[in-house]
Amino acid sequence: MKSKKTVAGLALENIQLLSAYRPGFQPDSDDWVKLNTNESPYPPSPQVSQAIQEIDGADLRLYPNPVSADLREAIGDLHGLGSENVIVGNGSDDILNMLVRAFSKNDKPATLVNPSYSLYPVLCGIQDTGVIEVPFDRSMEIPLGSISNIDASILFLTSPNAPTGVGFGNDVLRQLAESFEGIVVIDEAYADFAKANAVELLAEFPNIVITRSLSKSYALAGLRVGYGLAEKGLIDILDRVRDSYNVNRLSQVGALAAIKDQNYLTAIVGKIKRTRDFYRQEFQALGWFVYDSQANFLFLEPVNRNGEKGPHVAKALFDFLKENRILGRYFPAHALTEGFLRISVGDEDQMLKLSETVEQWLKTE
Ligand SMILES: Cc1ncc(COP(=O)(O)O)c(C=O)c1O
Repeated sequence: MKSKKTVAGLALENIQLLSAYRPGFQPDSDDWVKLNTNESPYPPSPQVSQAIQEIDGADLRLYPNPVSADLREAIGDLHGLGSENVIVGNGSDDILNMLVRAFSKNDKPATLVNPSYSLYPVLCGIQDTGVIEVPFDRSMEIPLGSISNIDASILFLTSPNAPTGVGFGNDVLRQLAESFEGIVVIDEAYADFAKANAVELLAEFPNIVITRSLSKSYALAGLRVGYGLAEKGLIDILDRVRDSYNVNRLSQVGALAAIKDQNYLTAIVGKIKRTRDFYRQEFQALGWFVYDSQANFLFLEPVNRNGEKGPHVAKALFDFLKENRILGRYFPAHALTEGFLRISVGDEDQMLKLSETVEQWLKTE
């Protein structure tokens, strides 16, 4: 019999060396205050479950529409674009994957600004593409000078950024798209919570692709729907590498209902932004540094009762919250993140429990 080791050794060398992306912890029980993966604390629009319930079960024997045609139309309308400028994916991760499959090269690296979404290097690793990581400094502003000198096939920029929440204005994104020769991916998974977005830049720059997610603002992480916006030629290229039936029937129907209920979206996004801004001030009042978040989370640098901050303090608060059934996210792997915790904005009860637990920590630590 062949050993397991032998079989793994048959994989491509880059896959043998690859570390998979690690999603945030998804607990089995619901007695947690779950503030670790930037899901919505509110349910999706009631139109979503209604539309899904109206599906005739017998139709599930049929494949879904391969290109998610109705959704492309509705998303195009939403952004003042044509359906030929839209591609729909199994989450925005699927669109990012298509981009890497279509545009990354073995002999030319991809680039990203670190810290940002840690899936990008994994997707590049799968395609055996090198990655040049350009560092942010603590200001978390885009280091324009460093990026424009880089000869790369594709640039990933998260705006608003994760895990910091810092958003970038179109002036700086315009300069970036002008100076960078390759494909500029602007990952706008959190754009509905931001003051601005980059959609208007699509008309100026054929090398820009914007990715969006329904997992955060639309409260549909469980449905797995995201989309990409770009000029038609670029969408045509992505369609060539897309899995034939990449968005299932239930997801297409549910996502369409969500996109059509913009009033509901506006209401829950408004509540989350108000809660975010209120708690940013609360943490700042404790003397903690908190980035100005344009997303549905706060990136905060805790200070303990002895006035200390840094990795051991952030880790201690993370652990204390966990002991009290509150999940946040800690990123120990980077010097600019190891002293911080990322906390997704919850509903009022969840945030109250968080704030009471932080007060308790400040007394006991
Ligand atoms: C910056 C960023 N992009 C993309 C995603 C993935 O979104 P989706 O659920 O649409 O695949 C996430 C999820 O956490 C994210 O933080």
